[in-house]
Amino acid sequence: MDSLLTVKNLNVSFNTYAGEVKAVRGVSFDLGVKEALAMVGESGCGKTVTSKAVMRLLSRSGGIIKEGSQIQFMGQDILGLSTRELNRIRGSKMSMIFQDSMTSLNPTMTIGNQIMENIFTHEKTTRQKARERAIELLKLVEIPNPETRLKNYPHQLSGGMRQRVMIAIALALNPSLLIADEPTTALDVTIQAQLMDLLRSLKERFSMSVILVTHDLGVVADFADKVQVMYAGTIVERGTVDEIFDSPRHPYTWALLSSIPGRAQESKSKLYSLQGTPPDLLLPLQQCPFAPRCQYCMPICKKAIPKENFLTDTHGVACWLQHPMAPKVTPPAGIGGYDHE
Ligand SMILES: Nc1ncnc2c1ncn2[C@@H]1O[C@H](COP(=O)(O)OP(=O)(O)OP(=O)(O)O)[C@@H](O)[C@H]1O
Ligand code: SF4
Ligand SMILES: [Mg+2]
Repeated sequence: MDSLLTVKNLNVSFNTYAGEVKAVRGVSFDLGVKEALAMVGESGCGKTVTSKAVMRLLSRSGGIIKEGSQIQFMGQDILGLSTRELNRIRGSKMSMIFQDSMTSLNPTMTIGNQIMENIFTHEKTTRQKARERAIELLKLVEIPNPETRLKNYPHQLSGGMRQRVMIAIALALNPSLLIADEPTTALDVTIQAQLMDLLRSLKERFSMSVILVTHDLGVVADFADKVQVMYAGTIVERGTVDEIFDSPRHPYTWALLSSIPGRAQESKSKLYSLQGTPPDLLLPLQQCPFAPRCQYCMPICKKAIPKENFLTDTHGVACWLQHPMAPKVTPPAGIGGYDHE
């Protein structure tokens, strides 16, 4: 598959009063043309920071992309681009939808003007043509009465409708890459499912590559081609959807799978409820980041960071249990396609 995006050894830090917060630590991944990648993990594991690094949207929050990091997008070195060059790419070739539409949309502008503004930033066109395009886009994201809705301000729309507007803005210029950062988290379950259906059909229709950021593995199986599980700023497991759901290898992935409602409920109560919190990102990493919360932790886990080990071309796991001499451990009942007879 042709690569659209290649991230290599991405390290991002924030300098705070308490010290250097190492939010992303040596993350590498590829995304192919028309491919959908799900980035999953608990709050604070570095999903948004990784996504914003790809868009070069970190400077406002003080995030520093460290030397040695590489981001190639459509053959361009994203980290070497000027602000002007970046502005040309952002919103046209790559777009991002954020979790909170209320803060991402401008409360003082009608949604019609916000969609048209994005079109004008990248294209020389007439107001009439931009308006027609805005109506077309609102129809595309299934907003009823688009001509009337154009005149609405964000607060006049429901949360689900606002997310649809965000999607319309993101798609206005037919991007090759869409990053959707928790696009449905703030919404109720029915609206979440409708929006995921919409995103799925738009991905096909526009032949886009998509990075879906979520803490919910439940929405991933029907959407993504591949999954990367993040923990404490690192990728602890990656694989195709089948590899992650049928033969997950990392105890943290098992914990996430256990927490999908309706799945492995029995094992969840017996074997896995994620106790404790992720490690302090101010501290250097000298052990497996999951060690303090892992029920399979061995002495080696507290002495050395496990390297990522590839079981197939696509399935990588960073866990000492993959060492040939480690004890054989199977996941909790109900997780993956393992036989627990
Ligand atoms: N502006 C900032 N200043 C200091 N630290 C930050 C800042 N932004 C993010 N971080 C740190 O980076 C880490 C990763 O944050 P990030 O927003 O990527 O998490 P996330 O995986 O997207 O979580 P969530 O699911 O809550 O959105 C956090 O633990 C946080 O401590
Ligand atoms: S390396 Fe050790 S502590 Fe870390 S996830 Fe694997 S078994 Fe658990
Ligand atoms: Mg986030």
